[in-house]
Amino acid sequence: MQRAVLFVCLGNICRSPLAEAALRAEAVAAGIAITIDSAGTGNWHAGNPPDPRAQAEALRHGIDIAGYRARQVRTEDFRRFDWIYALDPQNLRDLHAVAPRRPLAKVGLLMDLVPGREGTAVIDPYYGTEDDFAATWDDVSEAARRIVGRLEASR
Ligand code: 4NP
Repeated sequence: MQRAVLFVCLGNICRSPLAEAALRAEAVAAGIAITIDSAGTGNWHAGNPPDPRAQAEALRHGIDIAGYRARQVRTEDFRRFDWIYALDPQNLRDLHAVAPRRPLAKVGLLMDLVPGREGTAVIDPYYGTEDDFAATWDDVSEAARRIVGRLEASR
């Protein structure tokens, strides 16, 4: 069965859609089939497309995410996905708080995948500038390369 990865941030309109896009791009480049999705711990933006600045950042890397729609993380995600990566430590705590008693998914912090960045947040760019979205892209695409590297090593 295809391996499945879920990215989770707060709103599911800035960071986790970019992580989803970055991993899609890296998986395609590596020729690996992965099920990929993203969600938010909150539901304020459910049904909305990604923030326009996130859409623009993805487009700068050739990826159209205008069709993505935000949703809140749900209990079944912990059974449907093999890995759930939180974009920051607060997202990780919130995930643990809603996880079922016996999750299938391994739940962890995304930047723990990147040597030297363990324990750190992908900084929320929502109140930031275009540069902050570019920094988000750098972080999530580095982590996405690590995910693909692990999957390649284990196939
Ligand atoms: P995200 O960014 O968690 O990366 O999608 C945010 C989006 C919206 C809000 C906060 C962060 N908000 O407060 O509405």
